Amino acid sequence: MPRRASSSSVGSSSTQTSVPITVKVNGAQYTHSVEPRLLLVHYIRNVLGLTGTHVGCDSSHCGACTVLIRGPGESLWRAVKSCTMLAAQADGMEILTIEGLAKNGELHPLQNAFWENHGLQCGFCTPGMIMAALGLLIRNPAPTREEIKWGISGNLCRCTGYINIIKSIEQAAREMKEKSTTV
Ligand code: FES
Ligand code: FES
Repeated sequence: MPRRASSSSVGSSSTQTSVPITVKVNGAQYTHSVEPRLLLVHYIRNVLGLTGTHVGCDSSHCGACTVLIRGPGESLWRAVKSCTMLAAQADGMEILTIEGLAKNGELHPLQNAFWENHGLQCGFCTPGMIMAALGLLIRNPAPTREEIKWGISGNLCRCTGYINIIKSIEQAAREMKEKSTTV
């Protein structure tokens, strides 16, 4: 018996019903029909082609998939591991990924600070680390070193030893305060 696949669904090769979602990602609106089991991280990477959001574990341990989300009527962004959420749960939400941070050819202060302080080596953790740091700085613009450590405690880096990541976030916090930058 041949498999029945919905021609309008994405991320699907099964007979499951697809669900329509509309999301705004980095300022652009998208509408797709997705399989109910499709993870948000796979929607971002495989459907939207935004591969700056990484998959390190698929099981909520590494933080490489961290993005910011904001629901209807919410003023503040919050960081979320996008492998812990279904794409269908993001229906109606705004999403910010690492690709949405640079503006008019200028790096976001966090990206710049990671560059200047050598806050990365292989760079695999970096997009998730930056988005987690941004989620922290939006809610706490002047964190202590301990608060920074806590803020990125869900994000693993196998290369840097974290010291330069923390310095980068401290520098970005100062710069964002001076320039009144958020996202
Ligand atoms: Fe590791 Fe999401 S891929 S926490
Ligand atoms: Fe390699 Fe963090 S820079 S995992």
